[in-house]
Amino acid sequence: MASVRLDNLSKNFGSVRAVDGVSLEIPDGELMVLVGPSGCGKSTLLRLVAGLEEPTSGGIFLDNRDVSRVKPQDRDVAMVFQNYALFPHLNVEQNMAFSLKFRKVAKPKIRSRVAEAAEVLGLADLLCRKPAELSGGQRQRVALGRAMVCQPKVFLLDEPLSNLDARMRAEMRAEIVQLHRRLATTMIFVTHDQTEAMTLGQRLCVLDHGQVMQTGSPMELYRQPAHRFVGDFIGTPGMNFVRGRLEKRDGGLAFVESGNGFELGLANGLAKHAGREVELGIRPENISITDADGGLPGTVQSCETLGHESLLRVCCGGHELVVRLPVADADGLAKAGLLFDLAAAAWFDAATGQALI
Ligand SMILES: Nc1ncnc2c1ncn2[C@@H]1O[C@H](COP(=O)(O)OP(=O)(O)OP(=O)(O)O)[C@@H](O)[C@H]1O
Ligand SMILES: [Mg+2]
Repeated sequence: MASVRLDNLSKNFGSVRAVDGVSLEIPDGELMVLVGPSGCGKSTLLRLVAGLEEPTSGGIFLDNRDVSRVKPQDRDVAMVFQNYALFPHLNVEQNMAFSLKFRKVAKPKIRSRVAEAAEVLGLADLLCRKPAELSGGQRQRVALGRAMVCQPKVFLLDEPLSNLDARMRAEMRAEIVQLHRRLATTMIFVTHDQTEAMTLGQRLCVLDHGQVMQTGSPMELYRQPAHRFVGDFIGTPGMNFVRGRLEKRDGGLAFVESGNGFELGLANGLAKHAGREVELGIRPENISITDADGGLPGTVQSCETLGHESLLRVCCGGHELVVRLPVADADGLAKAGLLFDLAAAAWFDAATGQALI
């Protein structure tokens, strides 16, 4: 097991800055999820940790040892690739044994490590099968097994579940959490899927354009996004955003969105930002409806019923907002007053997207 520390790490490919000044500490034994949209630099970051790419600048430390220029095979990390990269002509046992054989590990030791991993991963009965004779989930487990037998200090997993169907993905997710508990090894798991990130990670690191937007527990990111990007990216659906200005009103403060009659009285916590162009971020479950006066008038555009809840798209003051309601409350609703739970709202600088404090 090992802690991982990235210190102002950058990687350029010609004029493309794939990783841009990433600093990140992953304590020994943690399951850290790197999440972000396609092309944000997740794989590059993982490949840097694995030693498959050389950093342009910055450092990579395993247990405080600088491994930035150390060869991959001497780093004590094992990477599971998105496409599994299993050898089609080798059976499960041979696939799992491959890198140990390559390293000239003694045969009895190879056999016992493969047997152990196969047991943990439920592959013991499949050792003689070729990859073509396995399901996607089983292939995935072989790829994991191949990393496990190396007993690395750090596991690097690059979108290992993306080739699986939704149900299998959910199952494998639970298996990976259990595996992490059992092995207690540091893991870095990469995904572009925020649901996967939320359910897997002890901590998440959200990346965009090669930069860290925020690092924290799933709930920290959900409740207190440090940047508009995080509020939008985390959560299904993401936050609603309304642009406007904070203005002093009758000794208090109001959020005013010019022109459309969208105005909310605010507590004074934001008073120091009076006069500022801001963006209100509010989650669909933090908007409720009322028959009484006081809500902002809204017209329901559409209603998606998901069984346990409904998602309404409501036009309010020129904005389309998504509102999450119990199915019974949403049924047949055409017009409604919207109430905003501003204690749960987030506020962002309109120009930079940074959260206001
Ligand atoms: N070998 C390379 N040469 C040039 N550009 C590269 C190379 N590898 C990656 N890039 C670029 O670096 C950026 C980050 O790529 P990377 O593969 O790390 O993204 P990613 O977050 O893993 O995306 P995805 O979710 O699609 O896998 C992209 O703009 C990509 O085009
Ligand atoms: Mg990738």
